[in-house]
Amino acid sequence: METKVFTYENDDVTVTWDQKRCIHAAACVQGLPAVFDPDRRPWIDPAPADADAIEDVVQRCPTGALHMQRGGTDPETAPEANRIALFPNGPLLVRGDVELVDSDGAVLLRDTRLALCRCGLSDNKPLCDGSHDGAFDDPGVLQAERLSGDADGADDPLRIRTAADGPLLVEGPVTVEATDESTCAGRKGALCRCGASDAKPFCDGSHNDINFTTA
Ligand code: SF4
Ligand code: FES
Repeated sequence: METKVFTYENDDVTVTWDQKRCIHAAACVQGLPAVFDPDRRPWIDPAPADADAIEDVVQRCPTGALHMQRGGTDPETAPEANRIALFPNGPLLVRGDVELVDSDGAVLLRDTRLALCRCGLSDNKPLCDGSHDGAFDDPGVLQAERLSGDADGADDPLRIRTAADGPLLVEGPVTVEATDESTCAGRKGALCRCGASDAKPFCDGSHNDINFTTA
């Protein structure tokens, strides 16, 4: 998993942007075009807006590519409940108190916002790098409901563990939200990240059939 972080600052705020996590969803450009202008260099300039407006838009970035500091601290707090939204033809958009760990348990990332590859094509697994664009066809509905356990205790963190050559293992209270607004809640499950499951968004073992590799 790679990072490429750029920093933009003025007297009030420091905005950071991780190019490797940006999939050009454009929530920032649409939210505050004077600050986030892809046709300008540098493309982020905090000067034209106040800190509150920048904070609001930074926290809309679904991938966590954008973060900010005010007075040396990140003002963002984790939402009360963890959720994973299925983006049509695209990634799993995670919001919550999230810890991403590898198959050995080493922490890859702690964040409140993440976009996780579910098509199998990203070169920056387990994060999405935009490779799904035009190459992955899935409307993001629940073809199965395979979360077990009680999602109560929503304040608990959500741990997502990457299985080598296999799914994303969810541990902790979470609600999975489909594009048709149907939901599935629980504490334990395996989410497909190879793109081949017939039980999307959950793993059905198809990664073995297609010899999916995550190396
Ligand atoms: S909102 Fe985030 S992912 Fe979307 S273009 Fe802006 S920085 Fe990139
Ligand atoms: S990771 Fe896709 S079926 Fe298991």
